[in-house]
Amino acid sequence: MSQSGWIFGYGSLVWRPAFEHSQRRAAVLRGWARRFWQGSTDHRGVPGAPGRVVTLIEAPGEICHGVAYQVTPTVRDAVLSELDHRERGGYERLRLRVRLDDGATPEALVYVATEQNPNYLGPAPLDAIAAQVVAARGPSGPNPEYVLRLAEALREQGADDPHVFALARRVQRLAGG
Ligand code: SIN
Repeated sequence: MSQSGWIFGYGSLVWRPAFEHSQRRAAVLRGWARRFWQGSTDHRGVPGAPGRVVTLIEAPGEICHGVAYQVTPTVRDAVLSELDHRERGGYERLRLRVRLDDGATPEALVYVATEQNPNYLGPAPLDAIAAQVVAARGPSGPNPEYVLRLAEALREQGADDPHVFALARRVQRLAGG
């Protein structure tokens, strides 16, 4: 955890933090982009039929919109072990500087799934990603829910993310919604 106790979420942590926090703020991460390139065999898919969830890739000039949560020192260790468990399907902790909506730029802990993890799937055409999402479901629920709730939360925040919005449109179309 960063000294200041901030955690930056850009995937399910945007719309379902499910951990105790003292502050929630819109935030951005510069130089990184969100992509549905991580396979999920424990939340939104199963082994042999993984779903697709987001990770971050380094992308100079790009911005990833998300949410920063501040966690108080008293609950920090408990929150971290919950999150390490929740993100155990390939994510590792990085410390990156984020910009909060009040202009502050604290270091935050960010869970990123790199190419090295066994569930990493990497790039694919958006139509193929959409088809995989629509077919997948795991212990945390159907994969389309993850995509659509993320898109909805970003839209509510006034945040743009062409990759997420384009995928959400395809998923909605394929799912008949
Ligand atoms: C995150 O939300 O920051 C990590 C990825 C995920 O749990 O979807």
